[in-house]
Amino acid sequence: MNQPIAETLSFFQAWLRSPRRVAAIAPSGRALASLITREISRDTGPVIELGPGTGAFTRALLARGIRQEDLALIEAGSEFAVVLQARYPGARTLWMDAARLRTVELFEGRPAGAVVSGLPLLSIAPRKVMAILIGAFDKMRPDGAFYQFTYGPRCPVPSRVLDHLGLTAEYMGGTLANLPPAAVYRLRKTAGPRS
Ligand SMILES: C[S@@+](CC[C@H](N)C(=O)[O-])C[C@H]1O[C@@H](n2cnc3c(N)ncnc32)[C@H](O)[C@@H]1O
Repeated sequence: MNQPIAETLSFFQAWLRSPRRVAAIAPSGRALASLITREISRDTGPVIELGPGTGAFTRALLARGIRQEDLALIEAGSEFAVVLQARYPGARTLWMDAARLRTVELFEGRPAGAVVSGLPLLSIAPRKVMAILIGAFDKMRPDGAFYQFTYGPRCPVPSRVLDHLGLTAEYMGGTLANLPPAAVYRLRKTAGPRS
């Protein structure tokens, strides 16, 4: 079977089994993958991807020059993790809940330059979202950015969570060429007061 069709089908089957975890009936399209990875290049250094699914954003990251060795793929679905591991043997694929990110060591302790998240944050409890963000920023350089997409009309991280963690969210853009249409936000550590 043609690869994109096979991927779409396996994604849909995963959604039928775990609609809340997968939270979309089809993988993200190229326009969204290009938007969410737009600011990332080989100079970014190691990148952590959360919820890669069938690898729509992974492919875009590799096309942007990120080496497999500089990629950590954190996926809670065993059906996806097994395929990612086989397809990207140089990357570190971890079958685990992204909320446990803080407990694992990645890239021999080198901090990541970016986190790209395909997680369905709107279906995840705020306490867990908080744990995911704490783990992600713990693994990044101070200037690192967390890229998150959403199908919703605003940033999927509630402002009280952003404030509590000292984060700022900026809208990067949206695309109608996705099913459903989606937008991307960039989260960073809020700059401290100038001395
Ligand atoms: C909306 S799909 C996005 C998949 C892919 N990034 C894309 O854009 O096509 C959500 C993905 O996040 C994974 N996921 C959901 N909750 C997770 C969690 N707590 N930890 C890690 N992965 C999770 C799902 O298994 C699925 O692969």
